[in-house]
Amino acid sequence: TELQMSLDQIEKSGYDHFMLKEIYEQPTAIKDTFRGRMLADDGIIKMAGIDDHLEKFVNANRIIIAACGTSWHAGLVAEYIFEDIARIPVEVEYASEFRYRNPVIHRNDILIAISQSGETADTMAAIKLAKENGAFVFGVCNVVGSSISRETNAGAYTHAGPEIGVASTKAFTTQITVLSLIALKLGKAKGTISNSDFHSYLHEMESIPSKIEIALDKNDHILKVADNYKLAKNCLYLGRGYNFPVALEGALKLKEISYIHAEGYPAAEMKHGPIALIDEEMPVVVIATRKGHYEKVVSNIQEIKSRKGKIIAIVTEGDNTVEEMADHVIEVPETFEAFTPLLTTIPLQLLSYHIAVMLGKNVDQPRNLAKSVTVE
Ligand code: G6P
Repeated sequence: TELQMSLDQIEKSGYDHFMLKEIYEQPTAIKDTFRGRMLADDGIIKMAGIDDHLEKFVNANRIIIAACGTSWHAGLVAEYIFEDIARIPVEVEYASEFRYRNPVIHRNDILIAISQSGETADTMAAIKLAKENGAFVFGVCNVVGSSISRETNAGAYTHAGPEIGVASTKAFTTQITVLSLIALKLGKAKGTISNSDFHSYLHEMESIPSKIEIALDKNDHILKVADNYKLAKNCLYLGRGYNFPVALEGALKLKEISYIHAEGYPAAEMKHGPIALIDEEMPVVVIATRKGHYEKVVSNIQEIKSRKGKIIAIVTEGDNTVEEMADHVIEVPETFEAFTPLLTTIPLQLLSYHIAVMLGKNVDQPRNLAKSVTVE
């Protein structure tokens, strides 16, 4: 009965782990991210941190994104969307490398620091370096009032709510949401996106939370898929375009919580090395959604199959082509290519979650990892 529920269970709202709770919170978290900012019917995105410095953003030479871990993966997704929609050159840097590399930084560069905790030491050091060199620094943080949010010139919070699980989930998708809003806003201000496309993007973004719900409804199926791969020693994740960073993030999730060795790769790079690893022992997770290089990814799937690799494909609803080739398919709803990471990430989070639970690992507090890394 409810009275017997422990405090711990109450905190997890009935979920077995914070990670699972946070995975399921994503539709709400993303709504919280765009609520009050995105007025789809009026075709407006309001973000004080951008509005107050719009000229700087519009005239920026380039954007440098500095981050670590999962936040770095969100930065990679942002690179695609910023260049695609706002036509601003973007470089994505590991904060730890950037800070020690004597990087070239100009006064009209903008550094965007992405950090869930807002406390990561390397990211903080990257910010200080950029500021010393006269760049404008913008923060995308989740924790309100965190050190990074105070050190930056301006910023936008993700509003994901507290993330307790060490492996980042809802922070990642809300970071992508904020960064997408910024890219769209700048695209509109610069005229690099048409008004009608801008409107379509806004309406599509509004539908993302319900599409994530649909992706989450596949949980029982994903649990069964997970059961087939829980004893794997290695796992390869492939994706292209917007879904290349998702492949990296999927592999990171599996490594972090199940301690299975996993690598993410851009699908086309497979032939330059990873293909040598493929045999009947090797599960390969392939993101093969219909928008974006679909045919090319399908031919990668054929190459894996002919080497007897086990294929778990993330596909768009109703895809039959890949279904015939793959060992397992997991469907996500259709969306714009730029928003596919928000959907394809979901099954990868659930897959690693279930594998880690089946292996009896400490999902919320994996060994050797910390939620916030305040030392370098
Ligand atoms: C740690 C966490 C990761 C996180 C990374 C960056 O390694 O375990 O989940 O992605 O730090 O953290 P940040 O708070 O800067 O996003």
